[in-house]
Amino acid sequence: MDLARSQSGFSLGFNSHDTSPGPIPLQLLNGEKENDDDDDQNEQLSFLGHQLCLKRKRDGQRSSCPPNSPNRAAVQVGLDSRQATVRGWGNQALAVADPEVYEMMEKENERQFKGIELIASENFVCRAVMEALGNRLTNKYSEGYPGARCYTGNQFIDQIESLCCNRALAAFGLDSDKWGVNVQPYSCSSANFAVYTGLLLPGDRIMGLDSPSGGHLSHGYYIPGGKKVSASSIFFESLSYRVDPLTGCIDYDKMEEKAVDFRPKILICGGSSYPREWDYARFRKVADKIAAVLMCDMAHISGLVAAKESANPFDYYDIVTSTTHKSLRGPRGGIIFYRKGPKSRPPDMLPSLSDGNGHYDFEERINFAIHPLLQGGPHNNHIAALAIALKQLASPDYKTNMKQVKRNAQALAAALLRRRCRLVTGGTENHLLVWDITSLGLTGKNFEKVCEMCHITLNKSTVFGDNGAICRGGVRIASC
Ligand SMILES: Cc1ncc(COP(=O)(O)O)c(C=O)c1O
Repeated sequence: MDLARSQSGFSLGFNSHDTSPGPIPLQLLNGEKENDDDDDQNEQLSFLGHQLCLKRKRDGQRSSCPPNSPNRAAVQVGLDSRQATVRGWGNQALAVADPEVYEMMEKENERQFKGIELIASENFVCRAVMEALGNRLTNKYSEGYPGARCYTGNQFIDQIESLCCNRALAAFGLDSDKWGVNVQPYSCSSANFAVYTGLLLPGDRIMGLDSPSGGHLSHGYYIPGGKKVSASSIFFESLSYRVDPLTGCIDYDKMEEKAVDFRPKILICGGSSYPREWDYARFRKVADKIAAVLMCDMAHISGLVAAKESANPFDYYDIVTSTTHKSLRGPRGGIIFYRKGPKSRPPDMLPSLSDGNGHYDFEERINFAIHPLLQGGPHNNHIAALAIALKQLASPDYKTNMKQVKRNAQALAAALLRRRCRLVTGGTENHLLVWDITSLGLTGKNFEKVCEMCHITLNKSTVFGDNGAICRGGVRIASC
């Protein structure tokens, strides 16, 4: 192709030696050529055997076009109007650019400010996190990982992502020789799915806490009729363990029995509305017995874990995932921690999940699952915002806040118990509680609606009735 002779008159000034009469200058101004004399003033450069034409600087430099020529004036007018247009949309405040969206956002601001927000999975991010979310980092494409991206121009993005990873490890006191982290997941559901995708084959088995017991859909849940409501249950075979309907606490003996029969390749702990500590050591024992990979989804409690206000899953688990926007108080997203280096446990893990040399091989599999298997370019603004949130985890203020969050939940639980309200598991050891309102003849759906009318935001939750059947008579309340 002869780039120098395009029909449009557009040229990169890229010429082949012998045939071309000379480079045609780059035309940006409505196809008008400034002046034929320009050619004489183009600097020539040779690159890979081709002549490159460098265009003269535009302003304040030599011009062969007389200042008062009509041609030049017309060009200037066109340029000015285009620049004004770009400045117009480029610099407009949101309220001017899109009053409709602005107004809706203002109303949401007001709702959050005036109401009482008690949704367990939400939090309030700080100003610095919001600043990081709304800026030019959103413009950049960075598929890949620091030092190995698909596009150039990522030198600062690399620094931000590496800093974020280092801070994530530091926030949970992890040794970088033994743990790695991926901060790119767009959400925790995608983080969980990436773990399964990276470590398993379609149809392999996973086992997590039943959703009506307080587990999360992304741990393989399907509803009792068999309808699969999560990709994790469509692409992998799953069987859930449950809480004891009477106590509301996980029935660990039954969990072990089911796990031994079902033999999942990944055993998952963690949930969305479980108000008690998890017996991590017991999970480890069961996982070792069936040679399963042990994964903890600490989405709700990761902030408490970082502040040492909850037991530490990292002592027992092979893989730990989390949301970054719940108790962690960061931007919306997910995170995956995985063990790396030599295995610290007896080599009874599935052979297919190790590199055959007694080393964990999660790093390559999980990173590859996130990109390129499941995601495209990372959301760099979110990663920067996460780095900021993770820095705050180390501050004494954050620890104080997490302590208070727990105290608030306990105070609310105590107040409800004094009024003879029934709480699932009889109380709470973290930031949330589940109030069983069936004995009051109420449903969670109606209760949450009435609360919403009173500007109190909480959410309905399933609970087990006295007969062990699932019913919708619960509400989840939290103090984050
Ligand atoms: C335990 C648990 N895992 C995963 C998720 C999913 O998080 P995301 O909304 O980021 O996909 C949640 C969200 O509520 C959760 O509670």
